[in-house]
Amino acid sequence: MTLTPKRAQDSLIQMTELVLPNDTNTFGNLMGGRLMYWMDIAAALACMKHCSAPVVTASVDNISFENPIKLGNVVHIESKVSRAFNTSMEVHMKVWGEDPVQQYRYKSNEAFMTFVALDPNGNSRPVPGIITDTEEEKRLYEGALRRRQLRLILGGKMKPEDADELKALFSL
Ligand SMILES: CC(C)(COP(=O)(O)OP(=O)(O)OC[C@H]1O[C@@H](n2cnc3c(N)ncnc32)[C@H](O)[C@@H]1OP(=O)(O)O)[C@@H](O)C(=O)NCCC(=O)NCCS
Repeated sequence: MTLTPKRAQDSLIQMTELVLPNDTNTFGNLMGGRLMYWMDIAAALACMKHCSAPVVTASVDNISFENPIKLGNVVHIESKVSRAFNTSMEVHMKVWGEDPVQQYRYKSNEAFMTFVALDPNGNSRPVPGIITDTEEEKRLYEGALRRRQLRLILGGKMKPEDADELKALFSL
C-alpha cells in the first residue's frame, strides 16, 4: 500500500514551557533530563501528526546543550519530521531559551530523534513520505540517509560495510 506523501511543514509542533523550580538543578538551570522529556513529547507529536498513528521513540541522536536555560525563563521547542522511511521517521528539533522580561531569545540546542509508527497490534506500520518545500527542509532531507545509517550502525542494526551513503562521503 502506497501512502500519500505529506508536507514536512504540516508536521510542525511548537511547544512552549516555563522553567519552574522543580525543573532546575542546584545552579538554578533547567535540568537536561527535563528538557529531553519535553523534546521527546514535541517530537512524538510531530510524528503522530505526520503519520496519524501512535509512535514510539526508537533512538535519540547526540544532544549538546549550548547554553543553560535559567529558572523563570521560557523554553521554545520546534519539531518537524525531516524524513520518513518505511515505518520510521526522523524528526528535527530546535530549542531556544527566552528571557521573558528582557525579551531576548538564545539558542539551546538542535537534535534529531527517530520514531516508529505502530499498528493496533503493536507492530511497526508504514508511514507516508515527506514533501519538502524550503531550503532547510531539503537540506535536512538530503542528510537524513547518512544520519540514519550512522544511528543504525551505533544501534547494532547495520553493518558498517553496508552503509553505502556513509562510505560515499569518504570515497569522493
Ligand atoms: C523501535 C522498535 C519499534 C523497533 O523495532 P524492531 O523490531 O527492532 O525494528 P525493525 O527492524 O522492525 O525496524 C523498524 C524500524 O525501526 C527502525 N529502527 C530500529 N532501531 C532503530 C534505531 N536504533 N535507530 C533508528 N531507527 C531504528 C528501523 O530502521 C526500521 O525503520 P524503517 O521501517 O523505516 O526502515 C522496537 O525496538 C521498540 O519497540 N523499542 C522500544 C520503544 C520504546 O519503548 N521507546 C520508549 C523509550 S524506552
